[in-house]
Amino acid sequence: MHPGPRRRRRTRTWGAAIAMTAAATTTVALAAITTTPARAASGTLDELAAAQGRYFGTATDNPELSDAPYVAILTSTEFGAITVGNTMKWQYTEPNRDQFDFAQADTIVALARQHGQVVRGHTLVWHNQLAGWVSSLPSGQVQSAMENHITTEVSHFAGQVYSWDVVNEPFNEDGTFRNDVFYNAMGSSYVADAFRTAHAADPSAKLYLNDYNIEGLGAKSDAMYNLAKSLKSQGVPIDGVGFQAHLAVQYGFPTSMQQNLQRFADLGLDVAITELDVRMQLPEDAAKDASQATYYRNVVSACLAVSRCVGITIWDFTDKYSWIPGVFTGEGAALPWDATLAKKPLYGEIASALGGTAPPPPPPSSGCHVTYQVSSQWNAGFVVNLTVANAGSSAVNGWTLAWTFPSGQTVSSGWNGRFRQSGSTVTVTNAAYNATIPAGGSASLGFVGSYSGSNTAPSGFTLNGTACS
Ligand code: XIL
Repeated sequence: MHPGPRRRRRTRTWGAAIAMTAAATTTVALAAITTTPARAASGTLDELAAAQGRYFGTATDNPELSDAPYVAILTSTEFGAITVGNTMKWQYTEPNRDQFDFAQADTIVALARQHGQVVRGHTLVWHNQLAGWVSSLPSGQVQSAMENHITTEVSHFAGQVYSWDVVNEPFNEDGTFRNDVFYNAMGSSYVADAFRTAHAADPSAKLYLNDYNIEGLGAKSDAMYNLAKSLKSQGVPIDGVGFQAHLAVQYGFPTSMQQNLQRFADLGLDVAITELDVRMQLPEDAAKDASQATYYRNVVSACLAVSRCVGITIWDFTDKYSWIPGVFTGEGAALPWDATLAKKPLYGEIASALGGTAPPPPPPSSGCHVTYQVSSQWNAGFVVNLTVANAGSSAVNGWTLAWTFPSGQTVSSGWNGRFRQSGSTVTVTNAAYNATIPAGGSASLGFVGSYSGSNTAPSGFTLNGTACS
């Protein structure tokens, strides 16, 4: 059993929750006729994750805490873990040498603890959002400045922080070490030194390496793997590797994610998804949403398939406060709550993936397409061939096709269906043998009719009450 964060306030009986049945089927619209709703996952995201021995968390940031409706969700049982999104970073905590300020981070830590949520500390050693003075140190002073920073910050939060991203983003895309101030001063040994220093300051905190673009196999994740393996073999106190997972629908899903997580776990390390979001080029549309939902589901599935994957953290939960639009021009819509703090359908996808249930039924894509072809016509009579195509995403079981004649025509006799006419309105119900029209399939039928004067084709058809094209 992996050492996960201690659980909180969970009184739910999971068996009972899972036994709850889904809502009754609806039969009104064409596309809903045959949908069998998947068993809905029940419970908040963290409750569902907890039932799988994981946590589900979110990042947050201090300016957002004045938004009461936001805080209500943040501190709800949706989230069992909170990452301090900015204010534990060096530029905030030690803006000037030896001048420490933990006030903002303390606020978030206190809020989380008050609500039984564990805290992921982010981050101690990173090239970015670093205080300017560090970069201008003579290289001989970098190590002591780094150790002092780590010791002071980790000691301050000792006993309150579940895990630390000790070193963030050490690698370039090609797997070489980033030439930041730490590497330039100490070579790759800065990593081991940082972990040892953090461990000395809080021996119970879980210590992580963290990076982006290491979700799948590749040069960068190989470099991370080799580093983690080497740290382990040197006895460096490393507990886990964090996979940021800032994904984008236009770049493809890292399909080797599960395999990649597993190889890190096989080193005897925990793994965690630490900053998940899935952005898209705006405007949002149904195809991008569908792809995004698949990405989220895939990430959840990869984590659940690896027993040492301890949890998933999204990088804030609402588009209202996502970092994406500010950093990736023209992109956004990356998170499961929208900018009005309403849950998107994506939320349900994540919940069902966490609950291990089948995906929710696709939103009813409805549609039928009717062709009405007069195949022959004489002085007062005519013959029509009709096809009814099901353009929806699920089969139609039992159908009624209706139309209204525009110029007083009447049906004399029909085939492949039961024809009735009342005034100018014709309704045709299926015959026993063509009751089912599969998604993408069609039914053919026809009739002999009579007319006088003009024989204008009807324009509006409905199938089971839904308008067809
Ligand atoms: C981001 C924050 O969300 C932004 O508010 C800030 O302006 C920049 O940093 N990888 C990380 C995080 O490890 O710390 C970054 O957070 C997002 C990318």
